[in-house]
Amino acid sequence: MGLYSEHIFPRLMESGLKGDVHRRYRRRALARAQGDVLEVGFGTGLNLEFYPTSVRRVTGIDSAAVLERRVRARIGGAPFPVERVIQDAADRLPFPDAHFDTVTSTWTLCSIARLRDALLELRRALKPSGEFLFLEHGRNEKGWVSRLQDTLNPVQNLVACGCNINREIDAEIEGGGFRIVDLERFTMPGVPRALGSVYLGVARPYGDPRLAGPSRARS
Ligand SMILES: C[S@@+](CC[C@H](N)C(=O)[O-])C[C@H]1O[C@@H](n2cnc3c(N)ncnc32)[C@H](O)[C@@H]1O
Repeated sequence: MGLYSEHIFPRLMESGLKGDVHRRYRRRALARAQGDVLEVGFGTGLNLEFYPTSVRRVTGIDSAAVLERRVRARIGGAPFPVERVIQDAADRLPFPDAHFDTVTSTWTLCSIARLRDALLELRRALKPSGEFLFLEHGRNEKGWVSRLQDTLNPVQNLVACGCNINREIDAEIEGGGFRIVDLERFTMPGVPRALGSVYLGVARPYGDPRLAGPSRARS
């Protein structure tokens, strides 16, 4: 990690993701969370204040540890225990099968390089009766916007540390062993469509759980 990715980008990212509009959507996305929660792309813990009282515990996975003082303060202020695991979500996660009641992801699926592996692994760790709550940005439905997204994506990838603006998030989630049961598509107010095309929804595990997980998916 260099100066840009460790210090400058995380601060830019935080200030871009903690405004009033983002807060409103975080609250909506996480309203159904309950029990033992696994949050992928935990970042700086901006979601912690939006989990409802039905949440018992949060485990946050992130491939990077940045802005540690802020993260510790947020974890310390949460009304439930929070554990953080620093690792790539696409690698085997240190949890048994069917362990969590809820999996959550906000503005993260755009950045995971091996997204299919990560989704299969999240699904493995989620109870069959559990829910995956997501709030993501991705590919726009309109042709001209998606073509613009394809053009801009290499630049976004570079300046935003691996973020992709052109992923079909719903297709990715369903390809990772989930069935989407609720989906809203809209553009974030005040954000250009290329960057602010949002997928907000709920998915449930689907298919044969024995096929889930990176190690098993490849065998
Ligand atoms: C745009 S930030 C969003 C952070 C947080 N979810 C939020 O809503 O504020 C994306 C996060 O995903 C994390 N991330 C990227 N690739 C990852 C991976 N392969 N495994 C786990 N976390 C990853 C990044 O380190 C970063 O914290």
